[in-house]
Amino acid sequence: MNSETGKNLINHLLSSALSDLKLTSHLDSLDIKVPNSEFGDYSSNAALVLAKKVKQNPKVVAAKIIEEIAKNESFKDLVTMKEQGGFINFTFTPKYLTENLNKILEQGDLYGCSVSGQGKTVVVEYFQNNVAKPPHVGHLRSAVIGDCLLRVLKSQGYKAVSDTHIGDWGTQFGILLFAYKEYLKSGGDKKQIEADPISELNKLYVGMSAKIESEPELRDQGKEEFAKLEKGDTENRELWQWFVRVSLADFENYRKILDILPFDHNLGESFYEDKMPAILADLKQKNLLSESEGAQVVNLEEQKLGVAVLVKSDGATTYLTRDVATIKYRVEEMKLEKMLYVVDNRQSHHFDQLFEIAKQAKYVPEAHTAEHVDFGFMSLPEGAISTRKGTTISLKNLIEEARKRAAQIIEEKNPGLENKQAVAEQVALAAIKYFDLSHNRKTEIIFTWDKALSFEGNTGPYLQYTHARINGILRKVVSSESRVESELATSNSQLATPELAVLRKLVLYPEVVAQVAKDYLPNGLCNYLFELSQEFNSFYQAVPVAQEQDLKIRDFRLQLITATAQVLRNGLYLLGIEAPEEM
Ligand code: ARG
Repeated sequence: MNSETGKNLINHLLSSALSDLKLTSHLDSLDIKVPNSEFGDYSSNAALVLAKKVKQNPKVVAAKIIEEIAKNESFKDLVTMKEQGGFINFTFTPKYLTENLNKILEQGDLYGCSVSGQGKTVVVEYFQNNVAKPPHVGHLRSAVIGDCLLRVLKSQGYKAVSDTHIGDWGTQFGILLFAYKEYLKSGGDKKQIEADPISELNKLYVGMSAKIESEPELRDQGKEEFAKLEKGDTENRELWQWFVRVSLADFENYRKILDILPFDHNLGESFYEDKMPAILADLKQKNLLSESEGAQVVNLEEQKLGVAVLVKSDGATTYLTRDVATIKYRVEEMKLEKMLYVVDNRQSHHFDQLFEIAKQAKYVPEAHTAEHVDFGFMSLPEGAISTRKGTTISLKNLIEEARKRAAQIIEEKNPGLENKQAVAEQVALAAIKYFDLSHNRKTEIIFTWDKALSFEGNTGPYLQYTHARINGILRKVVSSESRVESELATSNSQLATPELAVLRKLVLYPEVVAQVAKDYLPNGLCNYLFELSQEFNSFYQAVPVAQEQDLKIRDFRLQLITATAQVLRNGLYLLGIEAPEEM
């Protein structure tokens, strides 16, 4: 059987028929869609488009195309075709569906993987935490979405690497150094900071920033400390290295708690410090940099992107300058062709400026892509979780709360479960991650516990539960010794409707994944897995599986649910969600 997706098969059948009919030149591209299931598995509007060009009735054109495809003996028994309202609708035959079922059983974890990205390099940049600051919910979203995209791109054969671009440079570190030194001067104890460094350092920074508000002249002392740090002053360097060290340990801790893949690179903003002078010189030489009120800027007014400041009037380089250095380094040194920045949408303007400067300076070849994979803010309804300030939620609180609630639910639903603690953790993470991923990332979302943790509806726990339920059914069969006869399913043309619905859904999985690798919208995969679970549940309600008396049919159904569990597991893996065997 053809190793490609169902859509590839249809595409192949259609395009070879069109080329045999010498109609290809009339079409820019083939638009093959998944119609409402009553119309079939795929639908093409090719006849409608062509009819206008060749001035014929679409029904006539469709009939001709269908006739041409039907000549193709080798695919005759895989798909049936029908003209409806000028559309050509394709429906897979039970034979094709059974072959695909076997493909899932054979490929296992690899079902849905492809080689379409082979030979292409990509960096996914996410979880860009800031040193000496606790991560917030924005960083959580970045972590969850970025981790998913990395997994998806890898599954499509890309040479995909991850990087964090940690915020470890800039004037704020001068202010922190100043605050820390003031703290020691006024009798503060280093040990107290060491006990809980991130939140203590953050407190010092926040306190000093507030003080600067009322006494702006203090800012200069912060700037001075940063200047010393830049020049390599030993004391400041050592302190800064300490801030970075404790922060990296903290981020690694969060990474493990969040159960996201380890990072390939941890190149913070400071990594690009020594690369900036050359870039500024280069931009000047290319006539892109100009002077404005003592600052060095790139004027992007013509592109309606305002004025981009690369060096402030006090001589300090900016966040943007470091990003310009980063993008150049990624292309030239790391040989990356595709660069994805998973960052919240408040930074859209920043990335528009960055990409425009990179384009004008020719740092990114035209065939490469740099994209801001933006997302909206996630907030909690008022009062849902208490925080000190009540506005931003810390990542820590969110995860702890999720764990507590998940443990409670497991306790109610399945008190006898063996590894309750571990499962509760997997359910908690599934709830948070899936809530995030199942919404179109571009939208602002309001997190609600009941919705996220529900075992019904479009939630992570529901998908986990469906997967565990299938495993439960299969476990019983195995323990009753009534094993499935053969490894592979035999074609059965008497398929029941709910059976067909699951089989047809399973065919779509590989291209759903391929689509996420194109539009970077994981919610497409979430919706698919949810629909698959629903199809499975209707099927399971409608027909007997383990109890089916006809052993041939019983085995087929067992194979069908095995494949369904496999696809759920594969999909959940790409979302970064565990699929417990039992829950
Ligand atoms: N550290 C920044 C923040 O927390 C995000 C960095 C995004 N990435 C980048 N290349 N600018 O806001």
